[in-house]
Amino acid sequence: MTIREVQDEILRLKKEKNVCILAHSYQTHDILEIADFTGDSYLLSKKAAEVEAQEVLMCGVRFMAETVKLLSPDKRVILSSPEAGCPMAEQMDREMIECVKEKYPDYTVVAYINTTAELKTVCDVCVTSSSAVKICSQIENDHILFIPDCNLGQFVASQLPDKEFKLLQGGCPIHAAVRPEEALQAKKLHPNALLLVHPECVPGVSALADYVGSTSGIMDHVRDSNADEFIIGTENSIAQHLQFAYPDKKFYLLSKGLLCQNMKATTLIDVLHCLQGSAGEEIELPAETIRQARRCIEKMIELGG
Ligand code: 13P
Ligand code: SF4
Repeated sequence: MTIREVQDEILRLKKEKNVCILAHSYQTHDILEIADFTGDSYLLSKKAAEVEAQEVLMCGVRFMAETVKLLSPDKRVILSSPEAGCPMAEQMDREMIECVKEKYPDYTVVAYINTTAELKTVCDVCVTSSSAVKICSQIENDHILFIPDCNLGQFVASQLPDKEFKLLQGGCPIHAAVRPEEALQAKKLHPNALLLVHPECVPGVSALADYVGSTSGIMDHVRDSNADEFIIGTENSIAQHLQFAYPDKKFYLLSKGLLCQNMKATTLIDVLHCLQGSAGEEIELPAETIRQARRCIEKMIELGG
């Protein structure tokens, strides 16, 4: 089958079976083309709460599929590739955060959405990279324990100097591996390009950037900018999607290492097999986990707007 034929069959099956496909922007172009909704993790969370279809196929990583299940517990939710986890989401578990909370009883626990459903049960509110500053600014408590990403946490803290943040040593191994020297080198090679980076990058990289924001934030920034050249400091698929969308502009990779194997675990053929019922994993969570964990996702949507 050609790519087009596979896509046509996916579109046919999705309609026949009334399945909604959500795809994170880090998925490949051929998957984004057949998805009902694509975007960053905030947009996907909001769509997860709204979709009418009884079955949702998440092309992304496990915490994203869990978020759909938390918000729509009665729906059948399928993760496109069972092995697609997010290493950051596995870095801290519930027991560890319960111990930390005992040390900081007066702090509001803000969890990056890149966490397990189990960990979310002991947190107060979730944030995504695009909503973190807005949500943290609206929290009444000035003391915030931000987990697990210390780089995103530090970025948010820099935007909200009146609040006190406690950070732990977690983060995205892919974004955090980019060194400030690479950013300086890229800027030297492309002096006319704007550097746009994800806040999961280390503060030394974010400090050199012209814009720091989520995957959708970076794409929107390009859309709204008059500049012709950009260095893209997030998963490399974003540079590719942007090149398709804006063929007259130039996009450079900040680092060839910005490749998330987990986000790339899903292929177009996997999507077809999921719809045929021979691939994917149905997400199942204990009722008590759903009850406790969904509070902080709902709070995020309430405060994030
Ligand atoms: P976004 O919230 O920007 O979609 O980021 C999710 C993610 O996993 C980035 O690495
Ligand atoms: Fe997780 Fe990093 Fe991959 Fe995003 S890019 S899914 S934070 S490992």
